[in-house]
Amino acid sequence: MRIGVVSADASQESRVALTPDAVKKLRKLGFEVVVQSGAGLGAYYADAMYQAAGAEIADSSTGVIAQAQIITTVNDLPSTLIDNLTSGQMIIGMLDPYRNTQLDTYAAKGVTAFAMELLPRTLSRAQNMDVLSSQANLAGYKAVLMAANEYSRPFPMFMTSAGTVKPAKVVILGVGVAGLQAIATAKRLGAVVEASDLRPTAKEQVESLGGKWLDVPMSEEEAQKAKATGGYAWTPSEQYMKDQAVVVDKALSNADIVITTAQIPGRQAPRLVHKATLDKMKAGSVLIDMAAATGGNVEGSVADQTIITDNSVRIVGAANIPSQLAAQSSDLYANNLVNFITTLIASSDDNEAASGKLALHLDMEDEIQSALAVTHEGQSRLAKR
Ligand code: NAI
Repeated sequence: MRIGVVSADASQESRVALTPDAVKKLRKLGFEVVVQSGAGLGAYYADAMYQAAGAEIADSSTGVIAQAQIITTVNDLPSTLIDNLTSGQMIIGMLDPYRNTQLDTYAAKGVTAFAMELLPRTLSRAQNMDVLSSQANLAGYKAVLMAANEYSRPFPMFMTSAGTVKPAKVVILGVGVAGLQAIATAKRLGAVVEASDLRPTAKEQVESLGGKWLDVPMSEEEAQKAKATGGYAWTPSEQYMKDQAVVVDKALSNADIVITTAQIPGRQAPRLVHKATLDKMKAGSVLIDMAAATGGNVEGSVADQTIITDNSVRIVGAANIPSQLAAQSSDLYANNLVNFITTLIASSDDNEAASGKLALHLDMEDEIQSALAVTHEGQSRLAKR
C-alpha cells in the first residue's frame, strides 16, 4: 500500500506532511511512500533525503495522486487536484473542516477525508496525534520571538552604566497550548507577564509559569458553564465580554507586548482588543494576533500584514506561524500523522497482515477514526456531529 506526500503551495506554506524520518517509520510498517519532488524543500528536506529513507519521488502532484491510496497533506488539497482523486482514496491533513467547501465533492468521489483538527484531545491514546497542540506549542514560542523582533526595546531588565533598562510587560490573551508556551518563552526572555482566559482552570497554569492572572469577574451561572464544558471555551455572556474588555483595556494601556491566541473551532475568533484600547496603548508597543486567519482577536488586524496605527502601535496579523518554523513543525506534524496512520492498519493477528500484506482497518466505530473522518463511503459526516 502506497502513501503519498503532496507538496503544499510554497507561497503560503513551508511545512511538509511527512519527513524522511517519517518515511522510514512507514517503510518499517510495510508501506511504500511516494513524495512529490520538492515537497520538503521549505523544511530543508531534499528529494535525495526522502530517497535515502526509502521513498520514491514523483514529478508532480498528479503523479502522487495517481499512485497513492493514502494522500497526506499539510492543508487541504487545491481544488485543481480533485478531479484526479478516485473512489477509495484517503486524504489525511489539516483540512479546516468547518470552513472547507470541498467536502461534498470528496464524499461524492468516494474519498475518505480525515481532518486532523477534529481529534478528541482529551483521549490519552490520541495525544501523540494532536496536530493542534504540536503546532500551537511551536507557534506560541515563535510569536514571542516575532514580538521581540518588532519591539524596539529588549525584554529583560538590564542594569548598565548608562541607566537601567526596564523589563518588557507582556500580556497574553487566551491561555491554551499556544498561550502557555508564549508565557513560558516570554518569562525565559525576562519579561513580566500577565495573562487571561475565559477558562478559570487556566489561572493555576498561568501562575505556575510565573505569570500574573488577569481576573475577569464571572457570575455563578457562568462559572458552572465553564465547568460543564470540560476545560474548553464556553460562550461568554455580554456582561462577561464587557467586563473582559475593561480588564483588557487596563492591562493593555500599560503593556509593551500583547499576544492574542483565542480561537473557537469552526467559528470566527472572538474580538478581545478594541480600537478604543489600541488608542490608549504606548507608541512602539506590539500586538501579535495569532487568530488573524480566522477573523482576528484584535480590531484592525489583517492576516499576513503588519498594520501600524496612528499612535504607532504595531499589529502583526500572524496567520500561519508554524510555517515559519517549518523544519520543526513538519517533524512534529509528521509524527502525529504516522501515529494516526498506524491506527489504520489491521492488527497483526489479522490474516492478511500476518501473511506480510498490509491491510487497512477503517472502522467508523473507532473513536479516533470516527472523529476525524469528515467524509466516508460517499457521505459527508460533518453535519451529523
Ligand atoms: P484554542 O487555540 O482553541 O484557543 C486558545 C485559548 O483561547 C483557549 O484557552 C480558549 O479558552 C481561549 N479563548 C477562547 N475564546 C476566548 C475568549 N472569548 N476570551 C478569552 N479566552 C478565550 O485553544 P487550544 O490551545 O487548542 O486548547 C483548547 C482546549 O483544549 C483547552 O482547554 C486546552 O486545555 C485543551 N487541551 C487539552 C489537551 C489534553 O487534554 N490533552 C491537549 C490540548 C488542549
